[in-house]
Amino acid sequence: MTNIILSGCNGKMGRTVARLAKSDEHSHIVAGIDVVNEEQDYFPIFTHPSLCDIKGHVIIDFSRPSALDHIIALGKKNNAGIVVATTGLDPHHQTQLLEASKEIPILLSSNMSLGVNLLLELVQKAAHVLSLQYDIEIIEKHHNAKVDSPSGTAFMIADAINAVLKEKKDYVFERASSQKKREPKELGMISMRGGTIVGEHEVIFAGPDEIIEITHKAYSRDIFARGALNAAQFLKDKKPGMYSMNDLIKQ
Ligand SMILES: NC(=O)c1ccc[n+]([C@@H]2O[C@H](COP(=O)([O-])OP(=O)(O)OC[C@H]3O[C@@H](n4cnc5c(N)ncnc54)[C@H](O)[C@@H]3O)[C@@H](O)[C@H]2O)c1
Repeated sequence: MTNIILSGCNGKMGRTVARLAKSDEHSHIVAGIDVVNEEQDYFPIFTHPSLCDIKGHVIIDFSRPSALDHIIALGKKNNAGIVVATTGLDPHHQTQLLEASKEIPILLSSNMSLGVNLLLELVQKAAHVLSLQYDIEIIEKHHNAKVDSPSGTAFMIADAINAVLKEKKDYVFERASSQKKREPKELGMISMRGGTIVGEHEVIFAGPDEIIEITHKAYSRDIFARGALNAAQFLKDKKPGMYSMNDLIKQ
């Protein structure tokens, strides 16, 4: 059994994790953390990580980047692993996580779904074969309450593509201000926001006389929540270090 502290427990993802954990015999939410103090039925909620006096094996974080400092401090204090699922982290946060991973195990992923992590491998293969003649663009679509853009997953896909290319691509987020022809070294990322779209990512390889599209569509938040619970179980007895969903999948 993995005892979990759930950060962002009153958000859309937090509530989904809490619901799935209830019927998961391997996971038990022992406490929640959220600035919004709306009671949930089976665990106590603290409005700040420093107030949480309950120990867990692992913290799952689906909140905001601004919470990260205190979540790391709580993880270190309790010697608990952290599954960082919050997106929109900046380079400073990445450095903080790397530093903390010398003391505790950390799994960082902007997308906890099995399907997207498989898509990363597929686009790497396509980029390896096609990149010289094909223009690569990523279109992502999310619900109208999403704050960060492009999505963390769009960056994950772009970084995975760049990881296999000798000539790295430059990310371009909008073209309206420049009004010039597309350069081959560009990798465009386009964000669309509306309604209740859970998350869609389309990777387009547009070449001479053909287009290859690799798409992932999330139909429910359950895929991310299930991935986060699996990640927590994976992290429970791990040594300090940085882990990815790929490590979990390989295991
Ligand atoms: N990695 C993934 O697979 C994945 C999937 C979906 C969403 N996300 C990311 O997870 C995060 C949460 O997504 P969501 O859709 O549940 O958002 P949400 O806005 O519905 O929920 C965020 C919750 O965090 C709480 N919160 C805000 N600041 C906080 C703080 N300082 N300390 C503690 N709690 C705080 C809010 O009150 C809210 O309840 C976002 O960054 C989102 O992009 C990641």
